[in-house]
Amino acid sequence: MKVLPKPPSASEMRQVVVESQLWKAIFRHGYPDDPPNRALVIMSNVFLHLHPVKVKKHAAKFTWTYGLGGISFYLFLLLTVTGVYLMFFYTPSADLAYPSIKAINSEVTFGLLTRNMHRWAAHLMIITVCLHMVRVFYQGGYKPPREFNWMIGVALLLATLLLSFTGYLLPWDQLAFWAITVGTNMAGYAPLVGFQAHTLLLGGTSVGPNALLRFYVLHVIFLPLLLGVGLAIHFWRVRKDGGISGPIPDVMVDLELERPEYWRKEPQDTFISG
Ligand code: HEM
Repeated sequence: MKVLPKPPSASEMRQVVVESQLWKAIFRHGYPDDPPNRALVIMSNVFLHLHPVKVKKHAAKFTWTYGLGGISFYLFLLLTVTGVYLMFFYTPSADLAYPSIKAINSEVTFGLLTRNMHRWAAHLMIITVCLHMVRVFYQGGYKPPREFNWMIGVALLLATLLLSFTGYLLPWDQLAFWAITVGTNMAGYAPLVGFQAHTLLLGGTSVGPNALLRFYVLHVIFLPLLLGVGLAIHFWRVRKDGGISGPIPDVMVDLELERPEYWRKEPQDTFISG
């Protein structure tokens, strides 16, 4: 009787995969088992590179940041995904904007859900960004060497507020029309550059098709791009400034987490404490 070859065990299969050329081309530094190798593994992988090799214990503690920066970022991602979906069905013209919003609400698959997710995430993001700013302020996170990151943060806040403002006009209903009329009139009262700001925002002297197109382009391209680039600089600066700020050093009982412990804490570090 012919004896069938024994199937390879799980560990043998793992060995074959881990030693294959393809695996080694992607994961170049093996399992991270000592500090230098840990750093190499992190630096040479685009996804792992987003996280530091080590984090301070206080940074992984939820009540240190309340995850407010992280939550703001995840809301931004949610807004991007739902916004792209809505773009498939929305038409930025004075004749078609309102009907397309009605169609999103009643005809498009998951249209109402997506639109509401987009609206709620926008409101929530304003709240979480402001709370994040308050948390940074009260913990002195704006002090040297982080003052430049505070300035980047102010730009991010402005971009977030402008995103909300420009999105408000897009339904092209009475509420949108009059809210933007009031908002842009307020810009018109700014000293010295009031008239210019008013005309620049509206592409004319009153809220009309030009303003709608202008707000649309600002809302879907210019401001998200600005925010995206600003966020990349913001996160990079957090890293370069030695991670997020902590309690005053002499009262600090703060050890660095070793990588295995960090792996266990990573969901908390990325999702909760930002
Ligand atoms: C789109 C909005 C924003 C996002 C997504 C965001 C995200 C983050 C994240 C994830 C962190 C790391 C720690 C944490 O969660 O606190 C952080 C830190 C920081 N953020 Fe923001 N941020 C935003 C807006 C702002 C604003 C408006 C300010 C202030 C004007 C600001 C100033 C700072 C500073 C100074 C740090 C370092 C804080 C420290 O080291 O303790 N950020 N940000």
